Amino acid sequence: MTGVIESRNPATGELVDRCPISSPESAVAAAVKALPGWRATPAPRRADVLYRAAELLKSRKSDLGRLVTREMGKVLVEARGDVQEAIDMALYMAGEGRRMGGQTVPSELPHKFAMSLREPVGVVAVITPWNFPIAVPSWKILPALVLGNTVVWKPSSDTPVCAREFAAIFHEAGLPEGVLNLVIGRGSDSGANLVRHPEVNLVTFTGSNEAGHKVAMLAAETGKRYALEMGGKNAILVLEDANLPLAVDGILWSAFGTSGQRCTAASRVIVHRAVRAELTQLLLDRIGRLRLGNGLDPSTDVGPVINAAALKKIEDYVRIGVEEGARPLTGGERYVDGDCRNGFFFKPTLFDNVLPEMRIAREEIFGPVTCLLEAQNLEHAIAINNGSAYGLVSAIYTRDINCAFTAMRELNTGIVYINAGTIGSEVQLPFGGTRGTGNGSREAGQAALDTFSEWKTVYVDYSGRLQRAQIDADTVTSNEESP
Ligand code: UN1
Repeated sequence: MTGVIESRNPATGELVDRCPISSPESAVAAAVKALPGWRATPAPRRADVLYRAAELLKSRKSDLGRLVTREMGKVLVEARGDVQEAIDMALYMAGEGRRMGGQTVPSELPHKFAMSLREPVGVVAVITPWNFPIAVPSWKILPALVLGNTVVWKPSSDTPVCAREFAAIFHEAGLPEGVLNLVIGRGSDSGANLVRHPEVNLVTFTGSNEAGHKVAMLAAETGKRYALEMGGKNAILVLEDANLPLAVDGILWSAFGTSGQRCTAASRVIVHRAVRAELTQLLLDRIGRLRLGNGLDPSTDVGPVINAAALKKIEDYVRIGVEEGARPLTGGERYVDGDCRNGFFFKPTLFDNVLPEMRIAREEIFGPVTCLLEAQNLEHAIAINNGSAYGLVSAIYTRDINCAFTAMRELNTGIVYINAGTIGSEVQLPFGGTRGTGNGSREAGQAALDTFSEWKTVYVDYSGRLQRAQIDADTVTSNEESP
């Protein structure tokens, strides 16, 4: 395969670097070749590589953070957070090298031992988006590696330089040749070739629903396991007794952090009618003070969106919202002032008069746009939240313990926050969504071990004679009974 990808800074348009395009075939071949050796390496030794990678990431956090900002656009403090998440995941998963427990359980028969072990799945194809160019790949690559799988990683063509630098760290940390292989390619073609490759055993994907469904079809057709992490239409519920300034902090951070380009972003605010006017005013005051600009500038609050197509999509949704009868109270247009004129900037946008059935309340926009919806009471707010086809995150602000626990039980998302916004999951608990967001698999926490391993159940019969499990006790032969 020939050609290069030119990676450009979304804030300025300047070239970050050129990356040669590579083929999935040679990467899969290398992963297949490296599998027996890596799988046979004791897990604590595999974990040593992860510990060293964590140390290297720590020592490069500042440089890598700047690269994330230059290539992807998020502000520096968030870019360093992106790297920090990978450090945390490396340390967490390295610990699994000495844990990774199966179960030892009693057998129903005498002189018989029963246990379960984790085995690698084999060659894992990792397909990742641009919005967390270091953190999201780390959620997939690190558990895959510690469990003894080999990896072929296809990052987004919007962030190939971050991917190249992240992969280089593993090689520096002593990962053997062929265990982690990078495929740089554009769009769906190289991804599809990777997913349908006969020697790939598991595909793990984070990205849009449209691309995720294609991955699922191709993986199913070629008989592979797959794990999908897709869109969200996450809501923050604000009840009438909520601490409103706290809720405003959470909404601002969750709706406009990373310019709204997180699958966990809060793109709906479902507010009790008694506090709607007050919340709206508080939000408008704060949104008006958000500074757009280059993420390298420490005074910037909101960076650019990733590319021209994203900018157009956001603009289209604003138009659709207006046509549907919703009202943008602020923002709603590109930002082209001063130094921002060469970048892809969109003003933080708050839509009012939004109804649950409108497209802007149902479809993922993936930009700095959030919608206010009014609820009559807790039950109504939960019903609006649960009406979404997605199920990643929900959050509720209330000081009433009964409401908090009711919401915790009734909100139908994979993650629920009480008195905090929708973004900022931690690596030691499962991450993933219900219904349209995924296919039931989870990343992070102990749940990630299930995604990236196969269970092997082992019975050891040391009786020296035929013992039959699951035979009705009344029909057991005298031969089987005698010890
Ligand atoms: C994503 O946007 O794909 O909870 C992941 C969060 C981050 C991860 C977001 N830790 O917002």
